[in-house]
Amino acid sequence: MNNLYVISGVTGMTGNELVRQILGGNKGSVVGFDNFFCSSIDTVEDCIDDPRFEFFQYDINNAAQMAEIEYKIQKMKKDFDKVFYINCAAVVHTEYFYHVNTTFDTNLLGMRTFLNQAIAVGADAYINCSTSEVYSMQSFKEGGVKESDFLLMSDAEHSQRTSYATGKLLTEFFMKDAVDNGQIKGASLRFANVYSKNERFAKHILPHIVNSLINDGKVVLLENSKINKRTFLHNIDSCDAVLHLLEHEDALDGSVYNVATEEEISILDLVALVADKLGIKDPEITFEGYRESDPVRRVLSTEKLRTRTGWAPKITLSEGIDMIVDFRKNS
Ligand SMILES: NC(=O)c1ccc[n+]([C@@H]2O[C@H](COP(=O)([O-])OP(=O)(O)OC[C@H]3O[C@@H](n4cnc5c(N)ncnc54)[C@H](O)[C@@H]3O)[C@@H](O)[C@H]2O)c1
Repeated sequence: MNNLYVISGVTGMTGNELVRQILGGNKGSVVGFDNFFCSSIDTVEDCIDDPRFEFFQYDINNAAQMAEIEYKIQKMKKDFDKVFYINCAAVVHTEYFYHVNTTFDTNLLGMRTFLNQAIAVGADAYINCSTSEVYSMQSFKEGGVKESDFLLMSDAEHSQRTSYATGKLLTEFFMKDAVDNGQIKGASLRFANVYSKNERFAKHILPHIVNSLINDGKVVLLENSKINKRTFLHNIDSCDAVLHLLEHEDALDGSVYNVATEEEISILDLVALVADKLGIKDPEITFEGYRESDPVRRVLSTEKLRTRTGWAPKITLSEGIDMIVDFRKNS
């Protein structure tokens, strides 16, 4: 197959790994853009000279720049078997979750603009990156929460933080509406705690722990971390899930898919595991601050994705942490 992948937010954690897997797997070419809100060109430096990859420093909220991308894809599409749109551009990291105006513009209006562009160019499918945060206060049950479970969401009465999840939830409705109306095929993916070996802006818990232990030999955690447990998904596996879905047309029915591992670990055990790999004995842990509306456990069932596409995560948490530690030692 020689497909054309149009990727927003392409230098982010998901986008840059998608480029690597698409080019490395000889799946086709990539047109990608990013405004460097939260990333840099460094993340794709190993792909930037590949003639199959074209990059633009563009903003998904800039109408003229999006019109240029649309014009470009209209001209290019005849040379490819299929055209796939993957929307990775988003205001993501925890500190921005509280900023409802910023997340609204990019995560909702940007998502819809990009979806409308995919429809206008006659793209074969659209992948909408949603989030496991939509499970909010009911993020755990034995066997994992399912896509079909009803939600119990924290709201503005509890924490502005849930505005991020609320916005992402609405994007799932846009996705479903477009598929139900026969405009395009596609699906929404609820990713849970994705990490990579080289997260540049280390706001997530895993890079925070690694960086703190390497730099100071100790770590400061939220009070929530005394009891919280999480699962962690390597970006190699999250991107593999995106590509698996695109290869299974029947699965692109507008619905939602959980993408996660079921390897749950407490945050305190995570600190111990990372410390052990760094050769640090009994690291000092202090607790500061408390995050409202943060569920104690979040475990997702991935049965739907596994059954419909054959996807399964391959990288264990231990292997993923080894990759982070190796990367840090060699950079
Ligand atoms: N990382 C996770 O744990 C996680 C979990 C759940 C869902 N997601 C979702 O997956 C998708 C990809 O996330 P990620 O982990 O790659 O995040 P990321 O922050 O690494 O990547 C997002 C990219 O979007 C870019 N961007 C932001 N605003 C933009 C704009 N206006 N125009 C163009 N580019 C813009 C950023 O610069 C960044 O490179 C997002 O939709 C996110 O909400 C991620």
